[in-house]
Amino acid sequence: MKVKKIVLGAIAMTAVLALTACGSGKQANADKSLSKVKDKGTLTVALNPEFAPFEFQTIENGKNKIVGSDIDLANEIGKALGVKVKFEAMDFNNVLASVQSGKSDIGISGISATAERKKAYDFSTPYYTAKNVMIVKKSEVDKFTKLSDFDGVKVAAQKASIQENILTDQIKGVKVVSLVKNGQMINELNNGTVSGVIFEEPIAKAYVAANPDLTIATSVKFDSSKSDSYAIALPKGSTKLKDEIDKVVDKLKSEGKIDQFVENNFKLSLETAK
Ligand code: ARG
Repeated sequence: MKVKKIVLGAIAMTAVLALTACGSGKQANADKSLSKVKDKGTLTVALNPEFAPFEFQTIENGKNKIVGSDIDLANEIGKALGVKVKFEAMDFNNVLASVQSGKSDIGISGISATAERKKAYDFSTPYYTAKNVMIVKKSEVDKFTKLSDFDGVKVAAQKASIQENILTDQIKGVKVVSLVKNGQMINELNNGTVSGVIFEEPIAKAYVAANPDLTIATSVKFDSSKSDSYAIALPKGSTKLKDEIDKVVDKLKSEGKIDQFVENNFKLSLETAK
């Protein structure tokens, strides 16, 4: 009898402890992702604006301005949340870190939502899918007709981008040259230090349009089942903010607005390049 009482008592104690632990745990992890942004009145967005038509710089009334389809998307999110949007320009290899450290609320930078990145970040529903292509010199396009033609050849990819892995995974013997600046990759290709540059197609098209000696090697085909769609990166546990962002993304997608943003900004990038 006594033993039973003690056991019951112990069970009751454990239950109380468990409840308390649960309660305080909830407090500590309360999801402030949305209220934080609303209280500040500003949504801070990390991006690398060297990625037309998604994010790039243009000159308006003598001043540098960041524009692009990701900017249009961010502004729609700001509107829906009733907050201002502030863009933080940085190298791509710092974009995700800026989200993780909380310096930026979110990252919108043509970021591919890979399984690896999903371990460390929350992602919105995907908003754009692009395949990978190779840019080469027009004068060399006949030398490069398939992926294996880049075996032993130097190809540039942006530092910390998924393109670094796509090259090593899909081209045996390729010599990956990782560079922070996309503009520098194009320079290195123009002056022959590298023989190829990998980009997702819309970005490649924008660079080729601005560089008359370059072209997309259309017969060189990457396995596109391996390319992950673009999504907005948030710190882990930002469910409330993510839900609001997803509503905006879903609506824009269903209205065909994202494709329209990409198209408009592609045209704008051609004018900027002139
Ligand atoms: N989609 C690629 C990735 O997520 C490249 C993104 C680069 N974006 C940029 N704004 N430079 O790794």
